[in-house]
Amino acid sequence: MEDIVKAEAIASKIAEAGGRAYYVGGCVRDKLLKRPCKDLDIEVYGIPAEKLEELLSSFGNVLTVGKSFGIFKLEHTSLDIALPRTEEKIGEGHRAFLTSADPFLSPETASSRRDFTVNALMEDVLSGEIHDYHHGLEDLEKGILRHVNDASFSEDPLRVLRAARFAAQLGFDVAEETRELCRKIDLSSLSRERVEGETEKALLSREPGRYFRELRQMEQLEEYYAELKEDPVFDERVLALRDEAKEPVEYMLDILCAGMTAKEKESFLRRFVTKKYELKELKYRTCEDITEKTALFTKLDQLTEPGDYLLVLRALYPQNEEKYIALGKDYQSFLQKEHISGEELIALGMKPGKELGELMKKIRKEEYTRSKEEILEELKK
Ligand code: CTP
Repeated sequence: MEDIVKAEAIASKIAEAGGRAYYVGGCVRDKLLKRPCKDLDIEVYGIPAEKLEELLSSFGNVLTVGKSFGIFKLEHTSLDIALPRTEEKIGEGHRAFLTSADPFLSPETASSRRDFTVNALMEDVLSGEIHDYHHGLEDLEKGILRHVNDASFSEDPLRVLRAARFAAQLGFDVAEETRELCRKIDLSSLSRERVEGETEKALLSREPGRYFRELRQMEQLEEYYAELKEDPVFDERVLALRDEAKEPVEYMLDILCAGMTAKEKESFLRRFVTKKYELKELKYRTCEDITEKTALFTKLDQLTEPGDYLLVLRALYPQNEEKYIALGKDYQSFLQKEHISGEELIALGMKPGKELGELMKKIRKEEYTRSKEEILEELKK
């Protein structure tokens, strides 16, 4: 059953049991903006957690994400079903909340814990009616990200990054009063994973530069992006090449770091890149404008995504774009051609061991520009 059809069937059962189901959060916003949405978040009012779980189980396997929070997932669907909840700050950090589910909370109260007015819209699953307790429709129309509530907004520092990230994704402005509030929020307790998540979404968004510009306006660039001295500009060309990258986030990180020294690049990335292999790969990618074949191929040979690195060079050095395209094709054919193997060298009388390994490395470089036969002839001499 398609997820929307399933959601409607669930909402009917809920109504029969005396409750009400609403779509909430990003899926309402995205539907109104005609953007695709990946998850359907549903909030259920008027039914206690156990009863809701029992009711849901007739639609499939129910995974309880946080039983005490009253959050359920229906396996093999994009449906997240939750009870309305209140959150109380009980310490520092993004996760230090005491969350209590309360099926009898009013939708207005429940929606006031949400970050932005456009994210606080609710849609009745059965009637399609929109409930707009915080003027979210007006902000959606005007393209404005405005926080819902001073106190609850400030309790979650991730929301500062979310404001900038949504601005980049939706092309929205952040309301001046929200910016003002963001200036006062301490971001130091955020985990690397959280910062990474927001950074990645921003880098993949339609206006990545806007994320960093917005954070600068909020005076919040320093905590995680201190090495960015100037506002990065990602023009249409750079963004078009991003679409060709196998690892678009890494491609964008290279462009973002283009003006930095290797040391700056490393300390910058360490603050929010959590995957070790990604850090290592990006460290090798020093992005100099090298069009000399052997030097470039030596570099490409060290990388897991040489194709992406060539895209970065094309983006950074448009004057050499044609050369990089041609060199990229050359490198492809180099990879496909037959290489001299260890066995062949042993057959020529060489002994296995460290020296052979060194020789193989030297031969690979020779192979960038010469044919296998030519090199073998020389070795036989
Ligand atoms: N939310 C919030 N504060 C947060 C995280 C989430 O108020 N720090 C609320 C918002 O109402 C948001 C909803 O929870 O719309 C769902 O969160 P999430 O899935 O993170 O965001 P989406 O708005 O769905 O957008 P996206 O999935 O693109 O991140």
